[in-house]
This record gives sequence, C-alpha cells and structure tokens, in this order.
Amino acid sequence: MTEAWRPGDDDERRGATGPVRVRVPAKVNLHLGVGPLRRDGYHELNTVYHAISIYDELTARRGDTLTLTMEGEGTGELALDDSNLVIRAAHALAGYAGVMPHARLHLRKQIPLAGGLAGGSADAAATLVACDALWGTGLSRDELAGIAADLGSDVPFLIHGGTALGTGRGEAISPVLARPTSWHWVVAIADGGLSTPQAYRELDRLRETGAAGPALGSTDALLGALRQRDPRVLARTLGNDLQDAALSLRPSLATTLKAGEAAGALAGIVSGSGPTCVFLTADAADAERVAAELAAAEVCRQVRTAHGPVHGARIT
Ligand code: C5P
Repeated sequence: MTEAWRPGDDDERRGATGPVRVRVPAKVNLHLGVGPLRRDGYHELNTVYHAISIYDELTARRGDTLTLTMEGEGTGELALDDSNLVIRAAHALAGYAGVMPHARLHLRKQIPLAGGLAGGSADAAATLVACDALWGTGLSRDELAGIAADLGSDVPFLIHGGTALGTGRGEAISPVLARPTSWHWVVAIADGGLSTPQAYRELDRLRETGAAGPALGSTDALLGALRQRDPRVLARTLGNDLQDAALSLRPSLATTLKAGEAAGALAGIVSGSGPTCVFLTADAADAERVAAELAAAEVCRQVRTAHGPVHGARIT
C-alpha cells in the first residue's frame, strides 16, 4: 500500500498531467480446453490466449470525480455505471493503491460486446494501465495482474498480450515463447452477443447428457504447431471446447463456420464463448480475399481482418 494521495493541481509531481491514452487488443483462444466445474463456480481451464489487432482505446484525464463516456461498439447498450468493468477497475486500483478514484475516462470501442473476444476484460486491463499512469501509482506488472485477476479471468492476459498459456480459471498466465511470426485472421462478428456464463452452463449440460464432443485435453499439439510457423499445421490444432455450447445456443454459427471454410480459410473456430467466429488464413493477402468472400455471403454483421500476436494494454 502507498500513502493516500489525491491527484490535483497542488501535487503534480506524481502521475500524468495530460491525458493518458491506452490501446488494448481483443483476444481469441487458439486452444480452449475446459475442465470440470470447480466449487467456486469457475471451470478449470487449459487455454492458449492470442491477442489480435482489433483494439479498444481508453483515454484517462484528470477529474474531480470518476466519470465514463464512450463511443463506438455498444454505445447506448453498455451501462456506464458502477457495473461497468472500467469503473470497477478504476475503483479496484484506487482502493489497492490508496488514492482517490478521480478521473474522466473515455472509451472508444471497436471490440463487440459479449462477442467472445474479451472486450470488457480488455477495457478493464486498459483502465488499470491508464489510471496507474494518470495517478502515478507505479504498480508493477505483477501487482496490476493481481488486481486484474479479481476483475475477470481474462483480464491478466489482456495486460500481457502476445500469445500465452492460461491455467487455473484462465487468470494464471505464462508467455508462449516462439520465434516472431504473424498469423492472419478473418473475424466474423455476429449480430448480438452470447452470455459467457450461459455458454459454460450449456457445455456442462451437453456433457451431462453425453452430447458434447470429446474434451480437447493438452495444449501440446497446438504449442508444437506454433513453433513450426506454418499456418496449415496450426490450422489442424485449433480447438475450442465451448464451441459445441455456442453452436447449441446459436445454431446459425454452423453456417458462418462453413462459409469461412468455403471462402478458403484454413480453419475456423468459435472465439471463446462466441458468437464471434475466427478463421486462420495463409497470409495477409489471403485474409483479404477470404474476408471479401465471407462478407459477400452475408452470414454475419461485420467481417474484419486482423493479425496476431500483438501487445497487451499499452500507453500510446
Ligand atoms: O472471470 P469472468 O468474470 O470473465 O467469468 C465470467 C463467467 O464465466 C463466470 O462467472 C463463470 O460463469 C464463467 N467462467 C467459468 N470458468 C472460467 C471462466 C469463466 O465457468 N474459467
């Protein structure tokens, strides 16, 4: 804990006086292995996170209270009150560091709401990084990751970025070391979101009734494929245990997945708990071709291209 300190004109030695702008990526899970339901209501995970180049941006300015405004994806839909992960992250950091949670925050969203791309978690990660700089609290990455884990299972990864192994409920992160390679993705954003808790409950139900496919298990094949740097090899190892649940809740996603593969993608999977589908392609030019064909098929609200891995939440 640091001594209580209030950002204000009388003390400009700590923190930023000008606006702090942080860019934060979306994530996909290259491998999402879901284990049993734990006593705390979470499932044990064995996942490989991958940060892709679709970004939200959070700007933090000094203020006399804590306020949040937004533009872009989800405007008018996303509550801007104390339930918002941005506000919860600002309070969590201020409480930990012993400072007043005063800031004017503005969010520019491109990551869809409830899309399986961890947009809310990304915004929480961006808030921790931005407010730490604005308030001059100077926490280590480990301290920020600790606060992040209490806000949501994906939040520590969104601070970290890159490609990383996630265990526990997804909050325990260790980087995947691989020679630099860019992977090229086509991202099919659906109309409307899917609830993450509902997707996990649906998986439990499918497993109880024997209707779920076999569990993915180990990440070894995927980690080996990442090292080979060949998208055709990686394509064969992508997998998501939540995909059956997402397809059961939203059967139309099967059409989206088929359309992406018909358009020439090497493989397609549901991202996280869905409903966004992501397609691996051979290279950047191929991604553009697949994206154009998928858009013409009209099987989703929006088609984007992206590459990964990219950095986690960073001041720009
Ligand atoms: O951690 P986060 O708040 O993002 O999780 C949202 C919900 O997703 C949890 O309340 C839980 O229902 C489900 N979940 C889970 N197992 C995990 C992560 C999330 O069951 N490992």
